[in-house]
Amino acid sequence: MKKLFVALMLAALPLLSFAAEHGAELESVDIDVSDKAAMQDGLRTFTNYCMGCHSAKFQRYERVADDLGIPHDVMLSHAVFTGAKIGDHMNIGMQPADAKAWFGAAPPDLTLVARVRGTDWLYGYLKSFYEDPTRPYGVNNKVFPNVGMPNVLVGLQGRQVVGCKQVQVVEDGKKQYDPLTGTPLTHEACDQLTIVPKTGALNEEQFDEKVKNLVTFLAYSANPVKLQHQRIGTYVLLYLAFFFVFAYLLKREYWKDVH
Ligand code: HEC
Repeated sequence: MKKLFVALMLAALPLLSFAAEHGAELESVDIDVSDKAAMQDGLRTFTNYCMGCHSAKFQRYERVADDLGIPHDVMLSHAVFTGAKIGDHMNIGMQPADAKAWFGAAPPDLTLVARVRGTDWLYGYLKSFYEDPTRPYGVNNKVFPNVGMPNVLVGLQGRQVVGCKQVQVVEDGKKQYDPLTGTPLTHEACDQLTIVPKTGALNEEQFDEKVKNLVTFLAYSANPVKLQHQRIGTYVLLYLAFFFVFAYLLKREYWKDVH
């Protein structure tokens, strides 16, 4: 009995950690790691806005260029700012010890972050920086409270603040509509992230797209062989279907005289 209890507890553990991780509600984002244009745009954002602090040191420029369909000379002139060679790992110059002194925490390597955090988390995190004068860099984050990272995309997104906004009423997980007119029922909520208009280079839709592309690149980076897996998987299934016909004919032949 006791053993059974322990086994059940162990089986439930992943569920518990799942519940803890997903405290903040995350929007789900549809990531397509076969979309090369999206990943190229994501790579551009990554090298321009993230590699000042974060490395992707398990990844080589050459492999990324080949996977994303970027000629090597274009890769070198547009995405390599550290003087690295095409075959080098995507390292950075910042020393972890310095970084820890500046930001309170060293920026982790991001090659595999999409596997650790998941794409919904990354998308939510990158969109959830807001102004908070009590923090050292004047920003905080809804998805990662008291994070040490500054809001590096503020120039694109614009200034995001916590303010009041009309949001749709949700009861039992369902959005509520006026039964007569069909218009959404709203109420004013004052813990909402809102962007101060005209403070960023992109509008909300364009910014969402930018972040989605960046997350697509990080998803690719965490699992660069995924595309190959899918292609090989198709061949395996086709082979099995083909083989089935012969296996069946052989079985018929063998059993012909048994009955
Ligand atoms: C100025 C330096 C700096 C830049 C530029 C920067 N970050 Fe960060 N980032 C940090 C620091 C510092 C942390 C660690 C924060 C902490 O643990 O409190 C961090 C943490 C993160 C994390 C959380 C990792 C984890 O699992 O804990 C992610 C994801 C991330 N950064 C993504 C990005 C992306 C994507 C970009 C580019 C758009 C970027 N960062 C640009 C400094 C930076």
